[in-house]
Amino acid sequence: MTKLTFGALTILTMIATAPAAMAQDVAAGKTSFNKCLACHAIGEGAKNKVGPELNGLNGRKSGTAEGYSYSDANKNSGITWDEAVFKEYIKDPKAKIPGTKMAFAGIKNETEINNLWSYVSQFDKDGKIKQ
Ligand code: HEC
Repeated sequence: MTKLTFGALTILTMIATAPAAMAQDVAAGKTSFNKCLACHAIGEGAKNKVGPELNGLNGRKSGTAEGYSYSDANKNSGITWDEAVFKEYIKDPKAKIPGTKMAFAGIKNETEINNLWSYVSQFDKDGKIKQ
């Protein structure tokens, strides 16, 4: 019984603190995105730079940012971006898409990758923050 109450309390505490934790993840992810900014834009009015703009990435097919000239490797990878694929890719882009022209070594830290995904995946295809 005591155990049960404790378990319920733990869950309640988790629910109560979740929104704050998520906001923090997004903020940390924005900082992490500074590593991408030299080559990628995201958000309203984002344009292709050295790399394609990354709006609406969640659910987007690889190689489909309008007006961006992709490598065949990226274009033909057959990937549809989602959380799992992104997390695997960003650890080691050249392992996931051999022949990609994205010159980026990757991010190994799981927490940073999670935060980065929280930040990147919040933008819809128009660069607006999803509600
Ligand atoms: C030095 C420049 C550079 C940096 C830094 C960089 N990228 Fe890229 N990225 C590219 C290029 C160039 C491509 C296109 C690859 C191709 O066509 O082979 C790309 C492609 C991508 C794609 C595939 C997009 C699509 O439409 O298929 C994703 C996702 C991506 N990058 C995410 C990131 C993230 C997140 C970061 C930061 C952690 C990052 N990149 C850092 C240059 C960069």
